[in-house]
Amino acid sequence: MANLFDRRAVMLGGATAAGMAASSTQAGTAQGGVHRPAARPGFLWGSAGAAYQIEGGNYASDLWVMEHVKPTIFKDPSGDAADSYNRIWDDIALAASLGFNTHRFSIEWSRIEPEPGQISLAGIAYYRRVLETIRKHGMTPFVTYNHFTTPRWFAAAGGFETRDNIPAFVRYCTIVTQHLGDLIGVASTFNEPNLGALVSWSPAVRPLRPYIEMSKKAAAQAIGAPAWSPPVLGDFRVQQPIMIEAHERAHEAIRKTSNDRYPVGVTLSLNDDRAPPSGPSDVEAKRAQVMLPWLAAQGDFIGVQNYTWTEVGPDGDLPTPKGVELSQMGYPAAPEALEAVIRTVAAHTRKPIYVTENGVATEDDSRRVAFIDKAVPGVFNCLRDGVDVRGYIHWSLLDNWEWFSGYGPKFGLVAVDRTTFKRTPKPSARHLGAIARKGLPAGLKSR
Ligand code: BGC
Repeated sequence: MANLFDRRAVMLGGATAAGMAASSTQAGTAQGGVHRPAARPGFLWGSAGAAYQIEGGNYASDLWVMEHVKPTIFKDPSGDAADSYNRIWDDIALAASLGFNTHRFSIEWSRIEPEPGQISLAGIAYYRRVLETIRKHGMTPFVTYNHFTTPRWFAAAGGFETRDNIPAFVRYCTIVTQHLGDLIGVASTFNEPNLGALVSWSPAVRPLRPYIEMSKKAAAQAIGAPAWSPPVLGDFRVQQPIMIEAHERAHEAIRKTSNDRYPVGVTLSLNDDRAPPSGPSDVEAKRAQVMLPWLAAQGDFIGVQNYTWTEVGPDGDLPTPKGVELSQMGYPAAPEALEAVIRTVAAHTRKPIYVTENGVATEDDSRRVAFIDKAVPGVFNCLRDGVDVRGYIHWSLLDNWEWFSGYGPKFGLVAVDRTTFKRTPKPSARHLGAIARKGLPAGLKSR
C-alpha cells in the first residue's frame, strides 16, 4: 500500500523553583489576540514526540481500534511503541543532556478521560510527573493538548465532525490546565488540524478513500458504535470549521484557567507549496484552504511543521519530478523548504512563530546531520530579516511509530531497539545538541 502519511501522496493515506524560574512566562496581556507574556523563555531548542507514537499501550484511543480491525490501514500496530510510558524519565534526561532547553510532548486524552466525564487522577498525576521532570532538567515544557488521537468514545460520538462535541474537548483542555497549567511553558491545542486539508490536494488520496471508509466501518462495528470519526480520518470539509471553533474555545478556556500564564497556539502542517516552473498553478487556492483559515484563528503563535515541498498544478499537487532526493516517506527530503515556509507564514500573520516540527525520515543518519545543517541556517536567515521565530524543535527525539507507515521510517535523533527498547543517540543528536548549546549566532536574537 502507498505510504499513508505521505504529505504529497496520501494521509489516509509542584514544579521545582529552579525549573519555574528557568522558564517563567508569567501573567501576560493580550494585545490584538497575540499573547505578550511579561517574561518568556529565550530561543527554544529541542526535539519532540507525541504520546501515541512513543508511549505504547494506548488501548483507550481511537486509532488502537483501527489498528486491530480488518481491513486495517496501518502497516504495524502501535503495540508497545517505544515504551516511553515507562521510560519517559530517561528520555527527558537524555534530551536535556544533549543540550536542549525545551521538550515538546503531547498528553494522551484517553489517559486523562478514558470514558466521558471519568477523569483519571492517575493519568493526571502521570503527566504532572512528566512536566516536573522536564522542569527539573531546566527545560521548558512545550505541551500539545491533542496530537491526532482522541479517546475511542469521542470518535464513536462523531469526533470533530459534530459541533456538539466541542464542549467535550474544551472540558478536557480545562481539566488539564487546572491540574497541570502551573508547569506548562508553551502549549498548542491541536497538532496539525489542517493535515486533512493539506493531503486532500494530492490526487493519490482519492483511490484510498473507499478502503479507509471500509476500515472505519469495521472499527465502528467492532465496538458497537453508531458513528466512528477519528479526527485524522475525518472529512476535513466538515471538520475544519468545527476544529477552528474548538481551538478558539479551548484557547480561551486555557488562557482563562491558567490566568494567561503561557502562550497557546496551534501547530500546522505546511509544505513549501510552489507553482511549477511553467504552466498554471493553484498554489494560492491551496494556501487559502490549508493555511489561511488557521492563521486567522485566535491564538498566540503559529507552530510551523515542515518536511517537504510540493508543486501545485491546476488540479492539485503534481508528481515529484524525477531525480529528486526522497526521504523514507516517499516525498522530497527538503531542508531548504523550512525557510520558505517560515517566510510564507510570516507574510500572512504577525504572530510569533515556533518551528515545532522539522526533520527527515532516513536510515542514514549522516543525511539527517546534513539536513539539520541546511534547515537551521534557514531559521537564522529569517531571524536576521526580523521574522519573529522563537524556537526550533526537531522531529523527533526517538525513532517511533510513524502512524500508517508503522515502524519503518526513522525520524529519530535517537535509535530505539525494537526488542529491548534501549536508546542509542545517533550522531545527529549530538550535532543538534551542540548547535543548541551554542545558541543563536552573535547578533541574532528572538524577540
Ligand atoms: C506529525 C508527527 C509525524 C511527523 C512525521 C507530523 O505530521 O505531527 O506525528 O510523526 O509529521 O510524519
